[in-house]
Amino acid sequence: MRTETPPTVRLEDYRLSDHLIDRVELDVRLDPHDTRVTATLALRPNPAGRAAAPLVLDGDDLTLLALECDGQAVAPDAYRADASGLTLHRPPQRPFTLRIETRLDPTANTKLMGLYRSSGVYCTQCEADGFRRITYFLDRPDVLAVYTTRIEADRDSAPVLLGNGNPVEAGDVPGTGRHYAVWHDPLPKPAYLFALVGGRLDRVAKSFTTMEGRAVEIAVYVEPGKGDRAAYALDAVERSMAWDETAFGRAYDLDVFNVVAVSDFNMGAMENKGLNIFNDKFVLASPETATDADYAAIEAIIAHEYFHNWSGNRVTCRDWFQLCLKEGLTVFRDQEFSSDMRSRAVHRIAEVRNLRARQFVEDAGPLAHPVRPKQYAEINNFYTATVYEKGAEIVRMLRTLIGEPAFRAGMDRYFADNDGTAATVEDFLSAFEAVTGRDLSSFAEWYERPGTPRVAVSGTYDPAARTYRLAFRQTRPGAGADAPPLVIPVRVGLVGAEGPLDGATSGRVEAGVFVLEAAEDALTFENVADEPVPSPFRGFSAPVRVESPLDAAARLTLLRHDPDSFNRWEAAQRVALGLMAAQARGEASEDAGADAFVAALDAFLDTEALRDPAFAAQILTLPGEGELADEIGTDTDPDAIFSARQALRRRLGAGLRERLTRLRETLAEPAGAAFSPDAASAGRRALRNAALDLIAAADAEAGTALAQAQIEAATNMTDRLAGLATLALLPGEAREAALTAFAGRYADEPLVLDKWFAIQAMIPEDGTVTRIRRLQTHPAFAMTNPNRVRSLIGSFSLANPTQFNRPDGAGFDLLAEAVLAIDGANPQLAARLMTAFGPWRRLEPGRRAAAESVLRRIVATPALSRDVTDIATRSLA
Ligand code: ARG
Ligand code: ZN
Repeated sequence: MRTETPPTVRLEDYRLSDHLIDRVELDVRLDPHDTRVTATLALRPNPAGRAAAPLVLDGDDLTLLALECDGQAVAPDAYRADASGLTLHRPPQRPFTLRIETRLDPTANTKLMGLYRSSGVYCTQCEADGFRRITYFLDRPDVLAVYTTRIEADRDSAPVLLGNGNPVEAGDVPGTGRHYAVWHDPLPKPAYLFALVGGRLDRVAKSFTTMEGRAVEIAVYVEPGKGDRAAYALDAVERSMAWDETAFGRAYDLDVFNVVAVSDFNMGAMENKGLNIFNDKFVLASPETATDADYAAIEAIIAHEYFHNWSGNRVTCRDWFQLCLKEGLTVFRDQEFSSDMRSRAVHRIAEVRNLRARQFVEDAGPLAHPVRPKQYAEINNFYTATVYEKGAEIVRMLRTLIGEPAFRAGMDRYFADNDGTAATVEDFLSAFEAVTGRDLSSFAEWYERPGTPRVAVSGTYDPAARTYRLAFRQTRPGAGADAPPLVIPVRVGLVGAEGPLDGATSGRVEAGVFVLEAAEDALTFENVADEPVPSPFRGFSAPVRVESPLDAAARLTLLRHDPDSFNRWEAAQRVALGLMAAQARGEASEDAGADAFVAALDAFLDTEALRDPAFAAQILTLPGEGELADEIGTDTDPDAIFSARQALRRRLGAGLRERLTRLRETLAEPAGAAFSPDAASAGRRALRNAALDLIAAADAEAGTALAQAQIEAATNMTDRLAGLATLALLPGEAREAALTAFAGRYADEPLVLDKWFAIQAMIPEDGTVTRIRRLQTHPAFAMTNPNRVRSLIGSFSLANPTQFNRPDGAGFDLLAEAVLAIDGANPQLAARLMTAFGPWRRLEPGRRAAAESVLRRIVATPALSRDVTDIATRSLA
């Protein structure tokens, strides 16, 4: 590998392709080390491109075996080919056919991009630019072709052969022990949606009839013997298909829909047309091996990839700068699906926790970028929380601004106008402009600049006039001084000491929403009998940081009376953050504040805990250390943050002890009850385990006994793992014994051992770095498997702030060593791990210096991949 100073790709340089490819015929003869690919490409000059331009095909790590143009071998001086490209100097000025034969070694492909093998199964990953590792091609999303794929392999080792589209033909290759299958995908697609699979796999299936009357065979393929763990994923596909029909009027368009689970995968999953390939972590589930969180993630990711069939595949992206066009929109769609399948209020809280923990942090650090980036050195580094999650928030704001019916009409318009094409963010917005007659050009600013906006909100009550004036001021840190104001939908209401103030109205609030469009604005509510508490940004109506001078008492009024569940939760979070931040900053501890908080939670639990356990569990779960660091902002000390959070957990555990104990008893599953992963059952488990966590924080001895008993009695992974997670925070014999027993019980379950690796990586104690180094030599650990690496190294660097940010730099060293050890084999995985350094500048000076020196050491390492170089240099910039 060579260190390259990668060329920067810029949105402003976008040019149409000079050539188009109408049809692709692929003949893939699978072999562990000597796979042969013959691509027959029907090419033509693009009438809108440059005339007489050379044909420049992308390649990556390819070996060319043969090249023909219109049936004739191409003369050596007519082309140039190497591992990274093929140029035809003077291609025909009319339609022509190229036949390209390449040789691949899928077993040696450790990057997990292109064609590779995972536990013996041949599979592919082509987004963003992996197809060029299979054959020379115009590997850009605006070149759409119709594909026919013939896959041939050894029948014994690869009895299952899958491709995109519909199966056409299959049979034996006589006398060879080999067989083949032909697949045809009638819908034009870009190369990044190509996929094939060959291997020994179990299959579970069911049929579905679309609203258009098409019979679809849905199948999920998994490792042999694990078919019973695929049932939930299969069910989730069916529910996704049905939901997209009712919610968006979108029907599936092929005869088969296949999902394949593989154990080595760089990301979560991939929406290849008709053949989704998944990280098996997001397919396999049984009560014994998967937690409620795993079930929820499987449901969400199955839905996400399925929904891409329209938002991504039928309408794809013109170029990779438009990635949010498919990803932000599809995240929004999967979030809506999960909200409909579960509790909308609780799901919204989970979305916002995730956004704040990942996207806000990214947006405040050196890796910040616009939702639609303007340039990149390595596109695979832009599959980020900003593109995905902030991208989804923009779509949600659009719906809030124009209302549900117009939103649905705009989506229909978008799909109708852009079906079969490669579109842009402008195409998306113009569909909504067309149906509403509104100008969305100011709204489009949300895509253009990085940084989380701040909105300061302050109210003034006039008792004589019975009016309440609510003033808003927006600022845009990180966006640059010339950044214009954003269009910010503010869902807002007022709350009084006794309940919501429904009589108060303002002419500028329509259907509960005020639109802030200027840097500063204010609205006045009339008919306000008493000084109210404002409740802005209900449902988190915009991805902003709200600055409000409300005191804790006013916030606790919102916790009690706000009709908006999100803001009730938000109020409790803000009070907790205030208490923890004061303590972490070493400000005088304010016992009265904590007491009032405990009393408010006690009153809340009294009326609501049993009515909505899942929501109550969210109320009891304090903001994480990362969020607290984000709140403090500069010169943060992870140890002080950790202690402040522990102190408040102890307070809550002690103050609520009796009630939490009783709740745990009331919510206990009756003996012998069958496990169900549904939201209500999961909510009860969540509240019981949140209670366990707080009790253990206040009383280590009782916590140890309760956790041990829970692990002992557990009938499902959620409870067993929650018990283990509680014990993990309580040093001693009991913890080590429980960890050993867990490892023994699940010795043959890699996905469960991942949880075991992660729990140990997150232990907030001095010995953890040593423990991790020991675990790296555990027989179940492998630096080549992304799930193992993310469980051990990723959990440590992202979810163990005190140990990762050790003042002596030993945590940073551990990550740096892992990154450098992995980079040569799998640069994408290494670059992902590197992003944990992102928040280094907000640390106090000693730790900051330690992080900087490690980052500088990484950048100076010879032969670093483009992926890691990009993250490391941007982190230091
Ligand atoms: N499109 C996939 C998804 O969000 C992500 C694939 C990203 N892969 C990559 N190597 N960058 O569902
Ligand atoms: Zn996606």
